[in-house]
Amino acid sequence: MSEGPTGETVVELAKRRGFFFPSSGAYGGVAGFYTYGPEGAALKRHVEDAWRERFSVREDNLELDAPTIMPEPVFEASGHLDTFDDMLVECAECGESHRADHLVEGATGIEDAEALPIPEVETIVREEAIECPACGASLAGEPVTEFNLMFETAIGPGSGSPGYLRPETAQGIFVEFPLLREYARNQLPFGVTQIGRAYRNEISPRRAIVRVRELTQAELELFVDPETDRPDLSGVADTSLPLYSVEAQDGEGGPVEMTLGAAVSEGVLENEWIAYYLGIAAEWYERIGVDMDRFRFRQHLPGERAHYAADCWDAEAEVDGNWIEIAGFAYRGEYDLSKHAEHADEEFTVFRQYDEPVTVERATVDPDMSYLGPEFGGAAAGIAEELARLAERDREAFDGEAVVVTVDGESYEIPTEVTGFAVEEVTESGEHVVPHVVEPSFGVDRTVYTLIDHAYREDEVDDETRRFLAFEPEVAPTFVGVFPLMDRDGMGDRASALARELRESGFSVSYDDSGNIGRRYRRQDEVGTPFGVTVDYESVEDDTVTLRDRDSTRQIRLPSDELVGRLHELRYGRATFADLADEYEELTERAENPTET
Ligand code: GAP
Repeated sequence: MSEGPTGETVVELAKRRGFFFPSSGAYGGVAGFYTYGPEGAALKRHVEDAWRERFSVREDNLELDAPTIMPEPVFEASGHLDTFDDMLVECAECGESHRADHLVEGATGIEDAEALPIPEVETIVREEAIECPACGASLAGEPVTEFNLMFETAIGPGSGSPGYLRPETAQGIFVEFPLLREYARNQLPFGVTQIGRAYRNEISPRRAIVRVRELTQAELELFVDPETDRPDLSGVADTSLPLYSVEAQDGEGGPVEMTLGAAVSEGVLENEWIAYYLGIAAEWYERIGVDMDRFRFRQHLPGERAHYAADCWDAEAEVDGNWIEIAGFAYRGEYDLSKHAEHADEEFTVFRQYDEPVTVERATVDPDMSYLGPEFGGAAAGIAEELARLAERDREAFDGEAVVVTVDGESYEIPTEVTGFAVEEVTESGEHVVPHVVEPSFGVDRTVYTLIDHAYREDEVDDETRRFLAFEPEVAPTFVGVFPLMDRDGMGDRASALARELRESGFSVSYDDSGNIGRRYRRQDEVGTPFGVTVDYESVEDDTVTLRDRDSTRQIRLPSDELVGRLHELRYGRATFADLADEYEELTERAENPTET
């Protein structure tokens, strides 16, 4: 694995320079909740903007913004009430709670203990003599239980009606499908995106913003017709991806690097929609600054998949010597919409129009309720519905003297003559289909953490160790620092006017006039500001400024009225600093030493 900073280095830098820190520190803090400081909030917002541009705007998807609290029936339907659990083991000695699967992974090297059945996890805890990480007492023999991760609340005064903080933003999209379908003019495929908070009562939050209890997700739910819709893979077929399939995880060789086109044709990626999104996700991650030498896509093992997923691949980044999941790409099939259709009062289908009307034979029933009612009482309506279903499914069941149907576990024998069974020819112009769902789901917090980790650099400048974050200009919290060499002789006034002009031109600007110039450069380097503009004595005389490049520390001198245009070129990748250095005078004597006065 590549060398990156330690977790302690990232967390220390993040707190000191205002990227993120534990929330409510003045009240002792509460595990799993983090506040983004001024630098982190800007970095996170820029990541969200870049995601919105790529996955919503450029893909022509709809974006919505749904509430974070939803009523209980939503999660009965989605399956989260029953199955959104993690394995909990509690220490009898100190009472501390732990994720049993994580303890097993730490003790054995098993990669996804979450996929193991509970009795097996209990056995491993016993046989490996796993101890409580908090107090060292043995956990052998302690029961491992399922712990539901949803935060429950009451909606309204008094006991209210039960509600839950959504554990994924996706449900806010699924429940609105009947209206969203209208906005999409009933045409598949269409996609809906949402960037927002989700809540998970994690058993053991850890590694700062990598595992939190309040997180931000950026999710896309694409609704497709499983029979007719196919993605256009031409734009991504040549993209090379490190793929760690189930088969590869079985061996010793690690991920296999292959083009997406080859992965699809060789069946490594069976689902073309997942292949499409892995392709554009890889390009997007590279664009925002993820180190692609510390990145891979890993397929879920069968026992690891969420209750709704037919196939799932994770994007994983290496940080602090560990692989963390930063996004999931799941084929959810018809699971979500058919579950909501079962529980809600609306249709969750789309009408698929045939090219030409077709005439088909349709088996129908018209039960004689004047017979069924007196004969079967309260069960009569259920029997009639079951007869209709049976006619669609199995016409031959009506061949004999009587038909047998089961309602609520009880069997009823109905004379065929009272069922009104008939086969008729009908002309149909189309049919109702339940769309399938393809879901790329990104963790914004983990992306932010990865970007800081992967951008971290140390080098030697003027015999001093310099620490800096090599953020891409698109996501850097601040794009340009403006510094008067000193706040006198007109330099301060000129620099403030320049900072104002740059802000009005749409750049995020940090103005700093305190401390020596080398120290100010270092402050901006450490928060990842790509460029710095210095107003010095020469600026007052000839209206030029110096422009400094964070990564190389090279500086050039250029007329101030050319600055905005040049910064735009740098911001949107139309020029590099090296290009500009070819055009303008480069400074050979550079003030860089932060300890000089
Ligand atoms: N709708 C699908 C879904 O929620 P997930 O894999 O559970 O899938 C998606 O979550 C992403 O959200 C993950 O890939 C991860 O980046 C992020 N995530 C999940 N739980 C998290 C947590 N407790 N803290 C921070 N990020 C989390």
